[in-house]
Amino acid sequence: VQTDVPGQRMVIVLAASPRADGNSMLMAQAAAEGVREAGHAADVAWLPDHIDAHLGDCRSCRRPDGRCSISDGYEALLRDRVAAADGVVFATPLHWYGPSGRLKTFIDRLHCHTSPAHPDHARIKPGLMHRRHGLLISAEESFQGALPLILAFKELARYLHCELAGYVVGSGNTRGEVVRDPSDPLERSRELGRELFTRRVADLRTDTVRPHEVWPREAAAGG
Ligand SMILES: Cc1cc2nc3c(=O)[nH]c(=O)nc-3n(C[C@H](O)[C@H](O)[C@H](O)COP(=O)(O)O)c2cc1C
Repeated sequence: VQTDVPGQRMVIVLAASPRADGNSMLMAQAAAEGVREAGHAADVAWLPDHIDAHLGDCRSCRRPDGRCSISDGYEALLRDRVAAADGVVFATPLHWYGPSGRLKTFIDRLHCHTSPAHPDHARIKPGLMHRRHGLLISAEESFQGALPLILAFKELARYLHCELAGYVVGSGNTRGEVVRDPSDPLERSRELGRELFTRRVADLRTDTVRPHEVWPREAAAGG
């Protein structure tokens, strides 16, 4: 993806809470700051601005030209901002041990636009593949409640030939409370944004050709 600055990459941060000023939005903004600190461009989209309806039954609601008949901002968001980005950071509250409804709908509706029946599918699909992903979760409970969601996003990344570069879970319930989480989820979100393209992601198979050591040794002094 080309921005005006050579070497600069574009990251879209999808903020998925119904609350525009909630905990996951703070984490989303922190990640966007981190992306910019690394010299890349970041764009934050709040899903309720773009998504009004769930996935329908494509067989009955796909238009004769193959396009989706749901007339909200989803298609423009997907085509112009998500499929045009090099990295995607998903920021969601934990809702009933899963993503927010808007984020689930964002993912469900990929189906309509990546189906061969959609006239743009051959452009949209490659725009979703071979990208770096990050995941930010705000939750009232501690870490374990978010595990199924983290694993679901790991699978989503695998399915899309993407890499999940990392995740951050922040604890909080009332708006903005995540700033008081001693594990500092905002700093960890910023760090994930900064390192989105540089973090080591190892997803090995038994026949993956690789050195035995994970980290390169520093060159010996004077050598
Ligand atoms: C509908 C709903 C379901 C929730 N389900 C869970 C849950 O399963 N586990 C949990 O730890 N917190 C749950 N919470 C609490 C939120 O995850 C928590 O308040 C979070 O910080 C909200 O993030 P936000 O401010 O970005 O919306 C739920 C909140 C709502 C409104």
